[in-house]
Amino acid sequence: MVTIENLHKKFGKNIVLNGVDLSIKEGGIFAVLGPNGSGKTTLIKSVLGMVIPDKGTISVLQKNIKNSSAYRHKIDYLPQIANFPGNLKVKELITMIKDLRGKTTNDDALISLFKLDKFLDKKLGNLSGGTKQKVNLVLTFMFDSPLIILDEPTSGLDPISLIHLKDLIQAEKAKGKTILITSHIMSFVEEISDEIVFLLEGKIYFKGTIEQLKTMTNQSDFERAIATILTDNHA
Ligand SMILES: Nc1ncnc2c1ncn2[C@@H]1O[C@H](COP(=O)(O)OP(=O)(O)O)[C@@H](O)[C@H]1O
Ligand SMILES: [Mg+2]
Repeated sequence: MVTIENLHKKFGKNIVLNGVDLSIKEGGIFAVLGPNGSGKTTLIKSVLGMVIPDKGTISVLQKNIKNSSAYRHKIDYLPQIANFPGNLKVKELITMIKDLRGKTTNDDALISLFKLDKFLDKKLGNLSGGTKQKVNLVLTFMFDSPLIILDEPTSGLDPISLIHLKDLIQAEKAKGKTILITSHIMSFVEEISDEIVFLLEGKIYFKGTIEQLKTMTNQSDFERAIATILTDNHA
């Protein structure tokens, strides 16, 4: 589904990605983990063509994405920080994104799932962080693309919405889709991921299942397994 070879990216003198090789097969839930600033968002944005790498190749659905944009129609993306104009109403934003993408949507079901009906006539600038995130989840999940990329999807969500999010992700997986997620909430990652990759110092430090990570680090607890990687590497 996604193949990344020898990806390099630096911002000025800051080397963020330093030879990332990663292959994500079709179908299932993959989590990208790593400390703050380890390049998770940069990696995701490179796959989306929003960050142009210094070196390396990326293929999505067997096609090199260089100088191409059509492949993005096959991706639904939740950005870590979505900044839409604050004077736009929720329903105007949803209509705008639908018009832009020109695809069929199931926004009504998602609006009622997240109980957003009463916010449709409110301006985005007046919403709380959690409500904004729910609107962003509607914008992401209302389409039906084979690849779903979620950058820190849990941020600001209340417990009920978090359960809805997990159910939505599982339902998409059950349809055979590929879901790529970054999150620093370990319990969330442990619960939903089929496979994880751990980014450290610009490279993939670990790729495998959570069970494999626990074996490798000799830890029975996922959070401690991650902590072991960090202390062993003085990160
Ligand atoms: N557009 C940018 N310009 C300059 N530096 C950036 C830019 N985007 C990210 N960075 C830097 O790259 C590093 C990795 O950032 P990011 O990919 O957002 O990390 P993560 O998502 O893992 O927290 C950070 O040091 C960040 O400051
Ligand atoms: Mg990030």
